[in-house]
Amino acid sequence: MDNEKKHLQKKDEEYEIDTLTNDRLIKGHDYDGIRELDNDLPPWWKWLFYITIAFAIIYSVRLFVFKAPDLIQADEYQNEMASYQASKAVAKANKAFEVKLLTSDADLAKGSETWHKICAACHMADGGGLVGPNMTDNYWLHGNTVQDLYNVVTNGVLAKGMLSYKDQLSDKARLEVVSYVLEKLQGTKPAHPKAPQGKKYK
Ligand code: HEC
Repeated sequence: MDNEKKHLQKKDEEYEIDTLTNDRLIKGHDYDGIRELDNDLPPWWKWLFYITIAFAIIYSVRLFVFKAPDLIQADEYQNEMASYQASKAVAKANKAFEVKLLTSDADLAKGSETWHKICAACHMADGGGLVGPNMTDNYWLHGNTVQDLYNVVTNGVLAKGMLSYKDQLSDKARLEVVSYVLEKLQGTKPAHPKAPQGKKYK
């Protein structure tokens, strides 16, 4: 006990100083002779602590006083969902346009409208053909698939008098009108059918 006390030096009422390290000892902390130094916390630790306090104050004010939308969970969720839906819509719009026969009444009605407005001038309203070939028989110059017809309407056959409708009609409108040709004109009996042109398809 005496030995132990020897390197302890009373500084004042409040502290005892450890003479070996010259550090302060916590008063009253003595467990079986094991004592604890009263060292200051390291500055980096204190700064971190102050920063968390500042963060908490700013956060609380924003959350409870200003009700910042990015902190309110329900709003945050709504915002995230909205931006997700928006990005999904963009992805869908960017998806490559698929040239596939349309069969819905709405699409074919729109195709019919385009046909009568633009194409009938050369192919006749009933598809019998005039300047352009007959669309009701199964003879085709450029193939009989949706893609074949779509390509002709898109790029035209300029040398033969079939125009390109790439700029005048949207992808969808071109698909609608060729779908109308295949679904509604093919196999019908026009009033004045033009003689077959091209190759016969089954
Ligand atoms: C200015 C007259 C004219 C107009 C308008 C016109 N076409 Fe044509 N079309 C032609 C001619 C001429 C050909 C034949 C081209 C050839 O000999 O290669 C043709 C060919 C076609 C073919 C290919 C036929 C085959 O046998 O392979 C399709 C399909 C076609 N037209 C669809 C349309 C559609 C749909 C429209 C309306 C958007 C349209 N055309 C408007 C003149 C026209």
